[in-house]
Amino acid sequence: MLKTIGLSKRFGALVAANNVSMEVGAGEVVGIIGTNGAGKTTFVNMITGYLRPSSGHIWLGGEEVTGLRPMDIARRGVGRSFQVSQLFQGLSAFENLLVAAGVGSRSVLSLLRDPERIAACSQIFKELGLSAYQDQKIAAMPQGARKLLDIAMALAATPKLLVLDEPTSGVSSQQKMEIMDRVIQSVAGNSMAVILIEHDMEIIERYVDRIFAFAQGEVVCEGHPEKVLNDPIVREKILGV
Ligand SMILES: Nc1ncnc2c1ncn2[C@@H]1O[C@H](COP(=O)(O)OP(=O)(O)OP(=O)(O)O)[C@@H](O)[C@H]1O
Ligand SMILES: [Mg+2]
Repeated sequence: MLKTIGLSKRFGALVAANNVSMEVGAGEVVGIIGTNGAGKTTFVNMITGYLRPSSGHIWLGGEEVTGLRPMDIARRGVGRSFQVSQLFQGLSAFENLLVAAGVGSRSVLSLLRDPERIAACSQIFKELGLSAYQDQKIAAMPQGARKLLDIAMALAATPKLLVLDEPTSGVSSQQKMEIMDRVIQSVAGNSMAVILIEHDMEIIERYVDRIFAFAQGEVVCEGHPEKVLNDPIVREKILGV
């Protein structure tokens, strides 16, 4: 589904991501962990087209996509949520979802009235437990529901690869599990691949199949959660044990 080789990003003298190679297969849930500033968001910004790599290559389903714009990457089946939610404040929750579902289409007005799209979006709202917020304006929604809406928007274009950058930041630890249960349930059973950036190791242990541990822009350890979370370098540099 996704393959990167030697992906690097420099900001002046700072190497934010250094030589990152990653493969993610269909149906896999891959976790990215690392301290603040380790390069996690920089990496996903490159694979989603928001940052142009300084060097290295990116393939999606076998097609090279290095340097393509976010819209072109989205059209090839990559959906993402953001560390800070990117929602249209003036629209209702459901209108936000309808607009997201139409990424790449020409007429926003026609997609807001498209019955098939409305049905598909209602289904996503139901699965994520958001139906009660359908007509609410964004500002009136609780933080947990806003986070779920952000994820719903990434799911709306039925991506092959879903990229979640700290989807549960800023919500209570109990709500975190609720949110992730709903998300993982709604993607389970199809072949969607998921990349999850997360600081909460309880969430990582519970939901991911494999981990990439980032420190200072580099992958310092990768593999099975049990192996990575018990790795001495990961324990010292990332988990602070
Ligand atoms: N646009 C930019 N210009 C300059 N430096 C940047 C830019 N974006 C990120 N950086 C720097 O690159 C490094 C990696 O940042 P990044 O946001 O990828 O970290 P992160 O692992 O996502 O951290 P966090 O867990 O806090 O979200 C940091 O030192 C950051 O300050
Ligand atoms: Mg980040």
